[in-house]
Amino acid sequence: MPKMNPALRGRFNHDLTSIAPSNIRTFDAEVSSIKGIVKLTLGEPDFNVPTALKNAAIQAIEGNDSHYTPSVGTAVLREAIAHFLSDRYDLTYDPATEIAVTVGATEAIFASFEALLNPGDKVIIPTPTFPLYETVVQMLGATPVLVDTSATDFVLTPALLEETLVKEGPVKALLLNYPSNPTGVTYDATQLQDLAAVIEPTDLFVIADEIYSELIYSGHHASIATYLPGQTLVLNGASKSHAMTGYRIGFVAGPAELMKVVSMVHSMLVTSPSNPAMAAAVPAFGSEEGRQATLTMKQAYQERRDFMLQALSQAGFKVASPNGAFYLFAKLPTKFGQDDEAFATALAKEGAVAVIPGSFFGPGGEGYLRLSYATSMDNLKLAASRIQDFVASH
Ligand SMILES: Cc1ncc(COP(=O)(O)O)c(C=O)c1O
Repeated sequence: MPKMNPALRGRFNHDLTSIAPSNIRTFDAEVSSIKGIVKLTLGEPDFNVPTALKNAAIQAIEGNDSHYTPSVGTAVLREAIAHFLSDRYDLTYDPATEIAVTVGATEAIFASFEALLNPGDKVIIPTPTFPLYETVVQMLGATPVLVDTSATDFVLTPALLEETLVKEGPVKALLLNYPSNPTGVTYDATQLQDLAAVIEPTDLFVIADEIYSELIYSGHHASIATYLPGQTLVLNGASKSHAMTGYRIGFVAGPAELMKVVSMVHSMLVTSPSNPAMAAAVPAFGSEEGRQATLTMKQAYQERRDFMLQALSQAGFKVASPNGAFYLFAKLPTKFGQDDEAFATALAKEGAVAVIPGSFFGPGGEGYLRLSYATSMDNLKLAASRIQDFVASH
């Protein structure tokens, strides 16, 4: 095994020294070794990939679909995505020039920010939030402006956005993620329209991470791109809707002029996504089977959500309106105070249930826990009874 030449020490990219490794992963790794622990930590569907999708990947391999594709993804997949966006959300994008298939939503996030940001640019990120946005913005030398939304039911209100814009001066972009990881809260069409009214007269770019758009339990998902098509990049993918996290298929859609730059960055980062994964995503986005598979999973998530919601309420937690994704963001019962990390650590060690401390998701998350219900009902039942016992015995 090679030992690094000591003369290289301290000569890595200095900008990365301010970036901490994900404390979610660290916490998860720490508690995973506890014997018999039930984990509600991961944002990952526990379902298998639907059979028709797996077969499409197998066929691609057996049919020698093994050559470079266009960097923005196969034409047939971009057409399926255009159909999906139009069918579900009434969004119109030209598959030839306005859609790029990425390696998961993660690469979509990186390529979008890289396309827009210069060092020093400011990006508004409502919190609590999925931590990757802040990290990527920092990696690019730009400045995350974290806006605590805990006083406004975990949504960025037009007033809060206006106030932030006045306070911060020039801002390059606004990141919105709904339904939200970690809160499960989403925005309805009226809330988005009201936000759009503030954004439209400005030169703000909007990056809308809608990766959980198919997992909305009451009402229908609306996209801010409906109201701001000329300044929005819509990010989505197959990871959550089709339990395809390991296949790594995401996408970005936006105005052609902007997509030219996003696609250029994307092509330099990854060349293109992998062919079998793209083949599997075609029926995911473009067929009735793909749609039905999501609906079946959604029904199971909803039952689990309702069960956990009731169990947590009985134990004295208040839960943020959980209308989407597969997370509950639960406020600790008053007797436990605000130290979510101490609570989560004790719950893991003494109660054998792993959840993520809310403060790991940024300002406004203190005093909360994030629980993922993307796990079996048996696990949830066991977790619920252990949480109830833990709370009662402290
Ligand atoms: C809000 C949000 N965006 C993006 C991602 C990353 O998705 P992918 O696995 O498709 O890269 C996640 C994964 O947990 C997420 O929660």
